Amino acid sequence: MNLPSPVWLRRTRNSAAPLVLALATGAALAAETVWLDTLDLTSMRQGWGRPQLNRSVREKPLTIAGQTFTRGVGTHATSTYRLSLKRGSERFTASVGVDDSAGGAGSVVFQVIADGKRVFSSGLMKPGQAAKRIDVDLRDVKLLQLLVTDGGDGVNFDHADWADAKFSVNGPPPAPHVPPVEAPYLLTPKPGPEPRLNGPAVYGARPGHPFLYRIPAQGARPMTFAARNLPATLRLDTATGIITGTTPPRGDYAITLSARNTHGDSSRAFKLVSGDTLSLTPQMGWNHWYTHYNRITDAMTREAADVMIRSGMADVGYDYVNLDDCWMNAEPDARRKPDPGRIGPFRDDKGGLIPNTHFPDMKGLADYIHAKGLKAGLYTSPGPKTCAGFAGAYLHEAQDAKQFADWGFDFLKYDWCSYGGVVTKPTPLDEMQKPYRLMGDLLCQQPRDIVFNLCQYGMGDVWKWGAEVGGHSWRTAGDLGFELDRIFEVALKNCEHRDWQKPGAWNDPDYIQIGYIGNARGEGIPEPCALTPTEQYSFMSLWALMASPLFFSGDMSRLDEFTLNVLCNPEVIAVNQDQLGQCARVVRLGDDAFLLVKDLADGRKAVGLCNAGETPLTVTAKWSDLGLAGSQPVRDVWRHQELGVVAGEFRADVRRRGVVLITVGAPPAGRARSER
Ligand code: GLA
Repeated sequence: MNLPSPVWLRRTRNSAAPLVLALATGAALAAETVWLDTLDLTSMRQGWGRPQLNRSVREKPLTIAGQTFTRGVGTHATSTYRLSLKRGSERFTASVGVDDSAGGAGSVVFQVIADGKRVFSSGLMKPGQAAKRIDVDLRDVKLLQLLVTDGGDGVNFDHADWADAKFSVNGPPPAPHVPPVEAPYLLTPKPGPEPRLNGPAVYGARPGHPFLYRIPAQGARPMTFAARNLPATLRLDTATGIITGTTPPRGDYAITLSARNTHGDSSRAFKLVSGDTLSLTPQMGWNHWYTHYNRITDAMTREAADVMIRSGMADVGYDYVNLDDCWMNAEPDARRKPDPGRIGPFRDDKGGLIPNTHFPDMKGLADYIHAKGLKAGLYTSPGPKTCAGFAGAYLHEAQDAKQFADWGFDFLKYDWCSYGGVVTKPTPLDEMQKPYRLMGDLLCQQPRDIVFNLCQYGMGDVWKWGAEVGGHSWRTAGDLGFELDRIFEVALKNCEHRDWQKPGAWNDPDYIQIGYIGNARGEGIPEPCALTPTEQYSFMSLWALMASPLFFSGDMSRLDEFTLNVLCNPEVIAVNQDQLGQCARVVRLGDDAFLLVKDLADGRKAVGLCNAGETPLTVTAKWSDLGLAGSQPVRDVWRHQELGVVAGEFRADVRRRGVVLITVGAPPAGRARSER
């Protein structure tokens, strides 16, 4: 017999010799054992630490409810590992559970997904619970995913063990799944030379405070702006489109904005609501964190403001230029080793906060940003120190709030870090709310509008009370960090809190990380993000459908055509900025397919046909799932194209990890397209 000699027969791993013998004698093939801990785990993603071979994530022996295992992989929720299986893969077996080194805390769910179908779920597993056995048939499976999700209570202490985990194979061993390489493609049409007015239809500001608004408008410059029915307390610079002055007395002001150039003109309604509520639509802008970390400087921040104008981002509505942590001083620290220019006293002899040497003139910086019609933001923490170990506001809250206002800042992100050290544990709800209520009240007392962003990771169900303590937005979970393959999961979780979201009160699932971002494992030096082009479009579609704050946190000095194409689609942004402020509801269609359905103020629905899976899928939006019937006009939001009037349902082939974003329904008669 002329036997082929496949490469895998020549491998030395385990027992190739008996296999050759079996083939030669015609006996049934004995399956070979391939241990999970022998595979290349560099692509295993996890929420904390690194995958450990034959040890827990804490580098202790793998132990589940007192049972010790000699082999396996210790990981930490949220953990994802994708494997390509070859012909001859037969079974995957393992014993899973929370490692005893978690110290009695944590809770997780183990899942095995085979070609997009969930073939094992452990259910909620807690520490001390005996290991659960997995035995999964792999015949005909091409893509296997091993997932550990948090048990719904965050990822703290979620030490998860894939113990005794092995494959039986009659062929090549499983290999880490390499996502298909996708060339960047452009969905957003190039803006024309004629004026197109963008930005929200409704805008909140507090009476008697300084007013600043730059009319977002695309089109060739020079352009001349006008504003009909502009209150007398405001003035418009007709060449730049920047409106300044003092917010008029309490009330609604129906203004018509317009812009004209040699190619045409455009106008749209703009309602100024002078009252207590800011951020009537989700905030948009840039935040330095995921790119520059502790390397941020005054010059980089000014550059970000310049680029926001020069790149056209401001013309579609981005307007906050926000500093995150590390603009203040830190103490010398042998572990973190802050740069010497950031080490110094936290405060002067009067208790005033001292910015570090990279920020020589905070007022000058805010003025610089304002001169472009943009707004300035900064960050601190209610604890004695921020998350990165810099000066926090503890016991200096009133002085700091006044200082931020005196410098001219328009936005404060208020973290939680190190406040945990000054409260009792477990922390009762009113104690958890206290620092935010205090700062919220102080910001309201300042003679300028300061948007207040709570960054306490969703503790105490912050979405239920964030607005009550003066917040305009709040993080609903921990840092998105670099686990960007979790964007669908994060979006689904964030949507669970949709009922609490309303104009002026936004759930915040963290920043948009596309283009060049920092590198999690290195020194944070910006590099291209790991998401495929489709995933980057999905990021933006999901955040638009959730009406989440849109803060780009990539490198403004490395904005390429593709990244701008993703960030600057005025119709996608209009879905995000819709004045109803609704977060989409989820319609589950399968393990990987779901719809996100968002009502728009003009009666249409924005719908995302979502595929969170690893392979392309056909996804169907049935009108009955949208609460519609009959025939409906459908529009492709990214491409700005009408797709026709469609009866009953709309079906789309959705790429791996993709979202097809459409609107369904007709806009009110007579409404110009550019006004959408
Ligand atoms: C926390 C926040 C991040 C960032 C850092 C700064 O981790 O969640 O968004 O502000 O602190 O240290």
